[in-house]
Amino acid sequence: MMEFKVLVLLFAFISSSVSQSIRCNYSLRQNTQYMCNLQIQNPDGLNNFTQVEGFHFPGMNNVFVTAILRNTTGSTTRNVPSVLCSQFPHVTYIDLSYLGIEDVDANAFRGCRNLDWLRLYNNRITSLPDNLFMYNRHLNYFDLERNLLTALPENLFANQLALEALDLNNNPIANLPRGIFRNLFNLQFLYLRNLRISAVNPGWFDNLFNLQFLDMADNQITQTIPANAFRGLFSLESIDLAYCNIRTMNAQWFQTMAHLHYVFMHNNFLEHIPSNPFVNSPSINILDFGSNNLAEVSRLAFANMPNLMVLSLENNQISRLRPQWFEEKPNLDSVYLDFNRINSIPVGIFAPLTGLRSMSLWSNRIRTINRNAFGTMQNLWYLDLDDNQINSVDERFLRDAIRLNYFYFYDNVCASAGFFGFANNITNNIRYFDRCIRNFGFVTERTTEAGSNYNFVEGMNPGMHLEVFTQLEARVALTGFNFVWNPMLEIVFNNDTIRIVRNQDTDVAVIPTQRHFRIDAWNYYRITWARQVISVFEANEDFPFIAYTMQDWYPVNFLGLRAQESEAIWTLEPVQLPPPTPGPNSRNKQEV
Ligand SMILES: *[C@@H]1O[C@H](CO)[C@@H](O)[C@H](O)[C@H]1NC(C)=O
Ligand SMILES: *[C@@H]1O[C@H](CO)[C@@H](O)[C@H](O)[C@H]1NC(C)=O
Ligand SMILES: *[C@@H]1O[C@H](CO)[C@@H](O)[C@H](O)[C@H]1NC(C)=O
Ligand SMILES: *[C@@H]1O[C@H](CO)[C@@H](O)[C@H](O)[C@H]1NC(C)=O
Ligand SMILES: *[C@@H]1O[C@H](CO)[C@@H](O)[C@H](O)[C@H]1NC(C)=O
Repeated sequence: MMEFKVLVLLFAFISSSVSQSIRCNYSLRQNTQYMCNLQIQNPDGLNNFTQVEGFHFPGMNNVFVTAILRNTTGSTTRNVPSVLCSQFPHVTYIDLSYLGIEDVDANAFRGCRNLDWLRLYNNRITSLPDNLFMYNRHLNYFDLERNLLTALPENLFANQLALEALDLNNNPIANLPRGIFRNLFNLQFLYLRNLRISAVNPGWFDNLFNLQFLDMADNQITQTIPANAFRGLFSLESIDLAYCNIRTMNAQWFQTMAHLHYVFMHNNFLEHIPSNPFVNSPSINILDFGSNNLAEVSRLAFANMPNLMVLSLENNQISRLRPQWFEEKPNLDSVYLDFNRINSIPVGIFAPLTGLRSMSLWSNRIRTINRNAFGTMQNLWYLDLDDNQINSVDERFLRDAIRLNYFYFYDNVCASAGFFGFANNITNNIRYFDRCIRNFGFVTERTTEAGSNYNFVEGMNPGMHLEVFTQLEARVALTGFNFVWNPMLEIVFNNDTIRIVRNQDTDVAVIPTQRHFRIDAWNYYRITWARQVISVFEANEDFPFIAYTMQDWYPVNFLGLRAQESEAIWTLEPVQLPPPTPGPNSRNKQEV
């Protein structure tokens, strides 16, 4: 056993001492760049090389070398031998990626006073000395991506006033000292993606007046990001905070960024977007909040964004669209709202989007497509409505979409189909929507004025979907007759209760409404009447929050709509539509 060990050690010693070598294969690029293609075997990390071997071009020597580019085939080294920068003092470009480097000592780049471009990508560096770049005042680009750094010393970049791009991506850095970037006045690109940062230190960015691009995606930020976290970033054009575990968004973060174009906040855990976060950033083109938990998005969340082109809100919990989100955005080209809980597309909501080319609403709970939701849609080219609950479509909507090419309508109630070149063959394609178009005849939209009398809508068994928007109180009467006459039963929605009233003055059920009714917002209910039980359901709930049994029973032929205190906007649809056509279905009809 002992002998075997000795043998192995001896072999290792021989092989390593034999294999140490460092040489250049010189080449001239475009007759200007005299380059060393470095072949290095230095697995033990020796640093006592006296020279880099190789044969120069005629008339050339070491001082002409301006670039060192490692030859990845067969090259490996544990360190950066200082002979490189002492032998080639005029080098400006060094690429030492993929070499297995673990240690970089303070003298590694000392001799390269003109170093401009340095790439140490994909090595195994665990730490860097504080004074590594003391003499490299011209360093402009530094790529340290994919190493094993856990921390950086505070003075590493103290002399790098010329640095414009710094890439620290994909290192397990947990600790970035507050002053690490303090002198990088000219930095334009900063990559901090996939580090182990758990908090954002406002000191980092204080002097980065010229930073244009900040990528901090994929960090597990567990501490609240302070309001002033990004206060110095006056020139920022792009910020990426995706996959950062962010739970709360602060409207102050972006207030100093007057030149922002791209904002990526997707794949976080945001539940809320506050008012006016981008009000000082009118240049924003792309805003991505996809894959969060957004349920409450302020009406003013996207205020003052006249240049917005792409809005991504897919994969959230959004149930209501707000008209203000889409106002004054003539350049909005693509909107992603897939995988939310949207019940309806409010009247007129997309009409201001004259530039809209692509709209995705895949997998929501939409039941009706109304022409008036979209306006004229001169440019709509791509529309995805797959996997909704659509049961009625306004024919004018289909005919207005004169450029509609991709139209996805699979897995809806009244039709299931997908089209390429939809508008080119409208006469043929519109036949797929016969049932949807017919059903649209049963959808009613009304606006009632404050204090008006009951306005009647035909009510169909076994009940109606009801949407209402009002400031204070709204009433629905269930009645057999379409004139004002002692309604059998009234449901009164107001700002603090929902009540059921019989004979105009007797409350028979009173429900506090914290959950059920919101003023100055859309409310969505389902009201059913069957076997003498009146049930009121919230949104798509399976269980009613009111179930009232009547002693006496009259058929409900009409719903009366009325708002005492303010204007109210109403949309009604039957829960079940009458069967389509007589003939094959007439037997069913008799059974009803
Ligand atoms: C030197 O580089 C040239 C291409 O630039 C290549 O053809 C040649 O084989 C290289 N020589 C050695 C010894 O690697
Ligand atoms: C460098 O050091 C190694 C190990 O100490 C030794 O074997 C080798 O001879 C030295 N090389 C030179 C050029 O001094
Ligand atoms: C890189 O090294 C390989 C193997 O030694 C060699 O064949 C190739 O020519 C080298 N390339 C350059 C550009 O020197
Ligand atoms: C329209 O669609 C029908 C049926 O798919 C097809 O036969 C016809 O050629 C199409 N017309 C045009 C102009 O594409
Ligand atoms: C409801 O409205 C009344 C007056 O109409 C008002 O006094 C009260 O504060 C309101 N309650 C809520 C919760 O808004």
